[in-house]
Amino acid sequence: MNSNTIGSNSTKNELLPKVKNTIAIASGKGGVGKSTVAVNLAVALAKAGASVGLLDADIYGPSIPLMLGINERPKIYKSAETMKMLPLENFGIKIMSIGFLVDNTAPVIWRGPMASGALKQFVTDVDWDELDYLIFDMPPGTGDIQLTLCQTIPLTGAVIVTTPQKVSLSDARKALNMFTRVNVPLLGVVENMSYFIAPDTGNVYDIFGTGGGEKLASETSTPFLGKIPIDPRIRVGGDKGIPIVFDLPDSNEAKIISQIAKNLAEQVNIRNINSSSNPKIEIILGDGD
Ligand SMILES: Nc1ncnc2c1ncn2[C@@H]1O[C@H](COP(=O)(O)OP(=O)(O)OP(=O)(O)O)[C@@H](O)[C@H]1O
Ligand SMILES: [Mg+2]
Repeated sequence: MNSNTIGSNSTKNELLPKVKNTIAIASGKGGVGKSTVAVNLAVALAKAGASVGLLDADIYGPSIPLMLGINERPKIYKSAETMKMLPLENFGIKIMSIGFLVDNTAPVIWRGPMASGALKQFVTDVDWDELDYLIFDMPPGTGDIQLTLCQTIPLTGAVIVTTPQKVSLSDARKALNMFTRVNVPLLGVVENMSYFIAPDTGNVYDIFGTGGGEKLASETSTPFLGKIPIDPRIRVGGDKGIPIVFDLPDSNEAKIISQIAKNLAEQVNIRNINSSSNPKIEIILGDGD
């Protein structure tokens, strides 16, 4: 097998030998909150004590620099044998984005092979060092380019973000199928913009419908990691470059997202135990399904 191809969940992460787990945050439909979820999960995992990196794989519309309030040219580290870029750091996580390297007012025009080449460089030419989790914020969609990206980066698994809306769910299902097709394990579904709690009355409004994410998860035997409400403070956190889990850790929304991060870590552990060489544990977990 080509070392750059994702084969199975037991594939050794040859491109990133010091990174324990690599997780793609993806969706079929655009604008459902992948970057918001990726940023907040990364910061929540770091707050829980893990070493975390975040790679903005959305090279067409990188939003991580804005969402994490950081945009500088990364330093280059040169030694006799290698030349590596050092990721930037903020909120306790290591960050790399194409937005740090290009003029953010100019559109970035990539052809498929260039796009996956650029992404691969972010994996190989960035000094990520030792990480428990490297999170990839993926571009929306399930076309050829996304597929190529999936095959370029060695992934422990993928998280699918969807809203409860039908059109988002149907695209989320396509994303699920894409990962399954390239043998990337599905770590879970996150339903974002699930409901809105009116601050004055406390009434709950299901703006985009209800229960769709859970249904999708159960129909596809994918773990359901949780629901995130629509809250202006989540949007403001993105716009001002301070994720809500960092800025307002005691808010209900930050607690919900931190719980989703814990659920994700648990799924990663289960996945790692399942794909380890311990047949006993594998049998026990297999029976429980
Ligand atoms: N739970 C939420 N409550 C309020 N606003 C949200 C929530 N989730 C995301 N948003 C807002 O919705 C918009 C889209 O979110 P985001 O950029 O994270 O989506 P995306 O899926 O990464 O988009 P793209 O497909 O363009 O990469 C942003 O303005 C973000 O702040
Ligand atoms: Mg995005």
